[in-house]
Amino acid sequence: MDQLLVQGGRRLDGAVQISGAKNAALPILAGCLLVDGTVTVSNVPIALRDVATTHQLLAHMGAQVTVTTAATVVVDASTVVECVAPYELVKTMRASILVLGPLLARFGAADVSLPGGCAIGERPVDLHVSGMRQLGAEIRIENGFIKARVDGRLRGARIVLETVTVTGTENLMMAACLAEGTTIIENAAREPEVTDLAHFLNSLGARISGVGTDTLVIEGVLRLHGGSYAVVPDRIEAGTYLVAGAITRGRVRVNRVVPGHLDAVLAKLREAGGLISIGADWVECDMRGARPKAVDVRTAPYPAFPTDMQAQFAALNTVADGVATIVETIFENRFMHMDEMRRLGAEIRIEGNTAIIRGANGLTAAPVMATDLRASASLVLAALVADGCTRIERIYHIDRGYERIEEKLRGLGAEIRREH
Ligand code: UD1
Repeated sequence: MDQLLVQGGRRLDGAVQISGAKNAALPILAGCLLVDGTVTVSNVPIALRDVATTHQLLAHMGAQVTVTTAATVVVDASTVVECVAPYELVKTMRASILVLGPLLARFGAADVSLPGGCAIGERPVDLHVSGMRQLGAEIRIENGFIKARVDGRLRGARIVLETVTVTGTENLMMAACLAEGTTIIENAAREPEVTDLAHFLNSLGARISGVGTDTLVIEGVLRLHGGSYAVVPDRIEAGTYLVAGAITRGRVRVNRVVPGHLDAVLAKLREAGGLISIGADWVECDMRGARPKAVDVRTAPYPAFPTDMQAQFAALNTVADGVATIVETIFENRFMHMDEMRRLGAEIRIEGNTAIIRGANGLTAAPVMATDLRASASLVLAALVADGCTRIERIYHIDRGYERIEEKLRGLGAEIRREH
């Protein structure tokens, strides 16, 4: 199994190009199932394992998936024959649930394996299921599968989501595109990835309004047509590299981003002492050699601070000046990286959903293990400042969400290599 070896102590300085957003690419690729034709999707982070899993999933159903350039995929879903997402694929990627809405809306049938337990908490799919039922689907949970059927078309409905759910909103929005009549989704997620999916669907003939707000109104249409679309840049990848610069007291510029998507993260980097410069499609954070100051973080749905950046800021706080509290309000078990960071010498106390971190003068290298995607990234960040060589195991988690992380970090001056 691949491992990453990081020699700590190098101050990062330079620019890095950000890839397309994983969390936008996955629903967009699933959304191609709505179309009886060809869709070209560009700026896809093709090197990611989750993207490869999505390709497999679509191919399993009979869609033709062709990678044409380094970041472009052509999907032809006119050949779909099988409306099943099998356990073998769903278990490696929870986002496979995103095929439920498109399959049901276009073919009137979908069998999607239940995702099962997840390392970062319960993460149920009850809101996906109850929303589909409100759209007229009959759903049985049987033999570990969600088995959904509808006679004819789904019917528009008013759905009030009890909790803000990103993939839940996406799934219901996709299903509603081909439903008869109008669907209103209230308390919808407003994450930029949800917005990107809405723009994608509208570019294929869907009628979604209220995009970017918490009330989405979807007028169903009979069919979507083919087209081309470029995936939005990955704000979480961008945020991770900015923190990598900050933790090493360096200067990092992320290119090809949407700066507005990074507002909450940039506010925290400023608080940590970073000098932030912003251009049309780039952001730079310069620590001017200074030790970061401790910053409190509380995760919440967009536009507040993202849970997917929590672990990276935990890493920053382990070496910051002062004491910080990190409150995780989205997922109940998302502190597993804290134990591993303690192995590097971090001073962390956990009380329920709050971590209290006292910044240490330094960390020391130790073997650590990646536990989930963002947690793994935070271990790489901590390793960048730990004294000595840190070995990070189980990095397949990192490969789910960061394209060529070692290459990109080396480009910024880090000493990091992959061992097979
Ligand atoms: C998505 C992102 C993930 C991010 C998360 C929160 C993708 C592929 N993944 O995950 O990176 O960390 O949003 O921003 O886009 N919930 C329910 N019932 C449901 C669905 C969700 O109770 O049916 C709860 C979850 O347990 C969690 C909260 O809602 O506590 C938010 O989860 P959700 O937004 O659905 O996360 P994902 O869409 O799985």
